[in-house]
Amino acid sequence: MLELDPRDELLCLRAAEPVAECSGMVLPAIAQASIFRKETMEELHRDLARENAASVYSRGTNPTVRVLERTLAELERGEVCKCFASGMGAIGATLFGLLKAGDHVLFVNDIYGPTLELARRLEDFGVSHDQVFTADIDAIGAALRNETRMVFMESPGSTLFQRIDVRAIAKLAREHGALSVIDNTVATPLLQKPIELGVDLAIHSCTKYIGGHSDAVGGALIGSAELIERVFYNAYMLMGAIMQPLEAFLFLRGLMTLPTRIRRHHEDALSLARYLDSRSDVARVFHPQLGGAGQADADGWRGHSGLFSFELAEGGFARAVAVANRLRLFGKAVSWGGAESLVLTGHKSDPMGKGGEGPRIPAGLLRLSIGFEGAHALIEDLDQALAL
Ligand SMILES: Cc1ncc(COP(=O)(O)O)c(C=O)c1O
Repeated sequence: MLELDPRDELLCLRAAEPVAECSGMVLPAIAQASIFRKETMEELHRDLARENAASVYSRGTNPTVRVLERTLAELERGEVCKCFASGMGAIGATLFGLLKAGDHVLFVNDIYGPTLELARRLEDFGVSHDQVFTADIDAIGAALRNETRMVFMESPGSTLFQRIDVRAIAKLAREHGALSVIDNTVATPLLQKPIELGVDLAIHSCTKYIGGHSDAVGGALIGSAELIERVFYNAYMLMGAIMQPLEAFLFLRGLMTLPTRIRRHHEDALSLARYLDSRSDVARVFHPQLGGAGQADADGWRGHSGLFSFELAEGGFARAVAVANRLRLFGKAVSWGGAESLVLTGHKSDPMGKGGEGPRIPAGLLRLSIGFEGAHALIEDLDQALAL
């Protein structure tokens, strides 16, 4: 069975417990308020000067959201967390809040498409970027420029799920005087702890596994108090991509079952990946645990979650679409991380295609998000769809 840190299991289950004002409730009250009254003007002035910690106005801090932020900070082993309206809200605020004209960002590995689109948009504001697709630390070092102020990585990367040496890249960035940032959504805070590896900031789309039920959109940024404060005042409060209290409640509820769900996603996805790998009509399976990669390795990586992709040996894009259409148990939808299995193929205007920038992404690629229908039933479904 997938081994998780026992401390994380308790943290997830008791995510909401420290809320004194709701003692006895298993989850916190949904603080559905835009403003918070104070006893005196002096108290209001005091709290206005620390809006990142005190509830004054819900565009800044909200009590329900703060419970989620405390738990996510602890799960990621970071000092402070700020939650956002979406994963892109967190990514956008990180880039806008910490970069200025003249700065350069180096993206390492496959990166979620809209993150790169945002980087392209930032070119108009004088922030340049490059992307490298190598795990070779010298090659990554060679791509750094004098003006590189941020190294932004994904590991496992979007779409092809290759892993890179997170610890070595964080060290490289630090020595260069750049911040290191990781989008840790695919690994979840349970399977990889980038901050323990020296990364400055970890980002999550809570929309995926943290929520786990395809019913809420949200994001999170975790790091030192100093960095989160900079993002809070430079971008979060000004851009307004805030998490709502109902969403925070749903994510706290999701956290309670995250370890159990991740074990199941992990196990069933690995079974399916092995099955697909054994088929002669499948050219390659992109799952970071195939090919003998160990469980807990030097980076403390505990294994993969439930998202992976595979390439058909023949037929390219047209056959990939036909196979996806024949699947009965896999919903045709974007996003991932819920209880239901999903399939996605590339498309001209699709997030999966753009992230990998052209020829790196094979035309006959199908991405699967493995839910809870059962590995046996899902294999049967793939069997009939691939018989086409
Ligand atoms: C790796 C990754 N990061 C970030 C995001 C963006 O998250 P959201 O849709 O919550 O804005 C996604 C969404 O698909 C993603 O796959």
